[in-house]
Amino acid sequence: MISIMKNILITGGAGFIGSHVVRLFVSKYPNYRIINLDALTYAGNLENLRDIEHQSNYEFVKGDITNATFVNELFGKYQLDGVIHLAAESHVDRSIESPMDFIMTNVIGTVNLLNAARTSWDQGEEGKRFYHISTDEVYGSLDDGGFFLETTSYDPQSPYSASKASSDHLVRAYHNTYKLPVVISNCSNNYGPNQFPEKLLPLCINNIRHSRPLPIYGKGENVRDWLYVEDHATAIDVIYHKGKLGDTYNIGGFNEWQNIDIVRLLCEVMDQKLGRPLGESAKLITFVKDRAGHDLRYAIDASKLSNELGWKPSLQFEEGLDRTVDWYLANNSWMEHVTSGAYKNYYDQQYSER
Ligand code: NAD
Ligand code: TYD
Repeated sequence: MISIMKNILITGGAGFIGSHVVRLFVSKYPNYRIINLDALTYAGNLENLRDIEHQSNYEFVKGDITNATFVNELFGKYQLDGVIHLAAESHVDRSIESPMDFIMTNVIGTVNLLNAARTSWDQGEEGKRFYHISTDEVYGSLDDGGFFLETTSYDPQSPYSASKASSDHLVRAYHNTYKLPVVISNCSNNYGPNQFPEKLLPLCINNIRHSRPLPIYGKGENVRDWLYVEDHATAIDVIYHKGKLGDTYNIGGFNEWQNIDIVRLLCEVMDQKLGRPLGESAKLITFVKDRAGHDLRYAIDASKLSNELGWKPSLQFEEGLDRTVDWYLANNSWMEHVTSGAYKNYYDQQYSER
């Protein structure tokens, strides 16, 4: 029998990235009890974790991090050794429509977790760790070249990135002021299985499959640095265990693409896999009204993480994209479940006016 030695809370574990982190930790560390706290918003889906939900070192708790009483009770109940905090409102377009949801979860929710950790770890923080997962979007837009470093000044441009920047500042403030043992990482755009089809790649995969228009904002010239989600999870594993307390690590894929180019490549890959004539899916590309305040370019310099902690992405982009498309084609019922009901209203509202 395996003895449970550490209790680790993972917030947002039913979401896209969180589910991959939960799976990695549950499988790799049988001596950790992984408590997955998730409110199961539209983005949270327990189907993402069906394969590991019966593991004896895994437990799911449904709850909302904006509820301070609930968060405090949870910390009291579990005697947590560590927190990996991913729960967030994560989509820029939704933040433009409803900024307050982002303030509540990303800012207030994070402070609730920080307060609970501070109180519960007051008796000694030896071996404890509060790991806050953030985004490269806090640095703003790279309009004049260069890369984001850990020392780049924050310059968030959307309500989403401003709420994440705010939470990052608060996490650092709790380290400086109260000596809370924290570590932060800021990652570039993720792609891979289980991503909700409001984000560019799964939205286009779903639309190509149904021969629906592929909405490209503006001229499609915006640049993002793409990382396969399982590589983000391995980076989180390395940083959680080896990252220096109080430090920040940038995580990226060394893999920049203009939106129009990545969508054209996706169209080619899907034409092949769906047995369509080459060029068929690209005819669906439709340029639509640009996103308000659309950041032009994000690009991460992840050399600190690679030099100090030895992490590198494992997959070439073409292989990652191939795996991603295969997963969506093999898991059509997943897509059907998440696109039924409320998704249709979101989609109609988001794209009808463009
Ligand atoms: P996601 O939207 O897929 O998942 C978020 C999860 O958080 C969902 O399961 C949701 O139910 C849960 N959640 C939301 N509000 C909650 C609340 N109030 N209480 C408890 N749970 C709540 O997001 P994701 O893409 O997996 O992103 C996870 C984290 O990684 C976020 O913090 C995000 O800022 C960060 N990040 C994402 C990317 C990316 O490309 N997706 C890149 C860098 C960083
Ligand atoms: P997204 O996946 O929303 O991630 P983020 O805004 O966090 O980078 O968008 C990725 C890029 O694709 C971004 O430049 C906006 C663009 N985009 C479109 O052109 N069309 C779409 O329908 C969506 C959702 C995004």
